[in-house]
Amino acid sequence: MPATVLIGAQWGDEGKGRVADWLAAQAEIVARYAGGDNAGHTVRVGDNTFKLHLIPSGILHPGVVCILGTGTVVNPLTLMQEIADLRRSGIEVTPDCLLIDGRAHIITPAHIALDAASETSRGGEAIGTTRRGIGPAYMSKMGRTGIRAHSMTDPERFGDQLQKAIRDGNWTLQALYGQKPLDATAVIAQYVDAARQLAPFVRDAVVFIHQALDAGKRVLCEGAQGTLLDVDHGMYPFVTSSSPTVGGALTGLGFGPRHVERVVGVAKAFSTRVGSGPFPTELKGELGDKLRGTGDKPWDEYGTTTGRPRRCGWLDAVVLRYSAQLNGLTELVINKLDVLSGFDELKIAVAYNIDGQRVTTLPYDLALLERAEPVYETLPGWSEDVMDVRSVADLPANARQYIGAIERIVRLPITSIGVGPARDQVILP
Ligand code: GDP
Ligand code: IMO
Ligand code: MG
Repeated sequence: MPATVLIGAQWGDEGKGRVADWLAAQAEIVARYAGGDNAGHTVRVGDNTFKLHLIPSGILHPGVVCILGTGTVVNPLTLMQEIADLRRSGIEVTPDCLLIDGRAHIITPAHIALDAASETSRGGEAIGTTRRGIGPAYMSKMGRTGIRAHSMTDPERFGDQLQKAIRDGNWTLQALYGQKPLDATAVIAQYVDAARQLAPFVRDAVVFIHQALDAGKRVLCEGAQGTLLDVDHGMYPFVTSSSPTVGGALTGLGFGPRHVERVVGVAKAFSTRVGSGPFPTELKGELGDKLRGTGDKPWDEYGTTTGRPRRCGWLDAVVLRYSAQLNGLTELVINKLDVLSGFDELKIAVAYNIDGQRVTTLPYDLALLERAEPVYETLPGWSEDVMDVRSVADLPANARQYIGAIERIVRLPITSIGVGPARDQVILP
């Protein structure tokens, strides 16, 4: 059972990229299974900070093969940009170490324009998407009108498919949203050029993964987004359009559950979310600002993809228990414990009070969630800097108590603790 699935247990940005970077050291394959360049995974290696959007963090480990799986959506232009950025930093990106599954879907310029138009038309009800065209690309996929990555191996046909996709998109842009149509000619030339360069990367990743699994090679499935952004299980409609949960890893890569050994949930020591939607433990005043930071430190809470300030709040164990159940998590990794140094006290939501009732599971009705008042367990804080701590025994007693409380409330073992963004700033088992 050589597969490990890495899952965001909250609303994304839990530090999955840096955990994938640790785990990639013990993997032969690292595969993204869902989402597109809406993700932003920050990995700090020495003095270099890498911001990966679509390419798995495994690319930073020579010898690891990275895969963009069936369930992903690929923007050829931003992928080319990401490859160029990595190459500039001295990272090798060749068809030997990066595969795009031929079944993955292409994000077209029409999808990006439609994402923006849809958000604008929602006004105050906007989802706060990353405007990368993710939702419209999955709409085309589900509507069976999408373009798949293997089309890039025949650039002329790819150009024709794009032309049609833009024509259809323009119809919706004009008729539904009253927007100006896209000028197809220029963008098609750019896309066709990118397709020529990406064609050698397009392979049958399902066959490749099965050959690797049969040979006992270890596969790390790098999740993007987070459980609460799942289109089925998240806080719909304030979600992304894919399945970042464990089922998404199986359909998004094309193998069965018998291969999965570990399902690792990644969470921050507190909660954050970008975009709109319910957030029961959100802190709007001074405490929220303190969790977010002012932006002077690279890990302060501003989006990797959009630069938006992230909404911040106390840890929500109702959410974590939900994630543990949905994904069958075998363990939890907690990042950013260092950020909690200097708080007098810390709170963990153990239940919600909704209309006078104590609720310990996550309601699906957003109206109920909007009215949910967290029921907190309060714990004492600590003032010591923990960024140089490398063992649980050396943590301040109150930090140990906080970690112990999460394990008790969520009923999962915490196997690693991030105490800073660098590769070595981690407490391992
Ligand atoms: P991802 O999308 O889940 O990969 O997470 P992001 O990269 O979007 O956001 C996580 C941010 O927290 C990045 O800036 C990381 O460098 C940073 N980070 C991750 N773990 C830690 C940690 O333990 N401590 C600190 N201070 N920063 C961390
Ligand atoms: P990583 O992988 C945090 C959020 C957006 C918005 C909603 C829908 O870095 O954890 P979309 O563009 O996907 O249609 O936007 O989902 N969102 C993320 N939030 N981290 C992410 O990825 C996200 N990807 C999408 O902010 O609320
Ligand atoms: Mg991120």
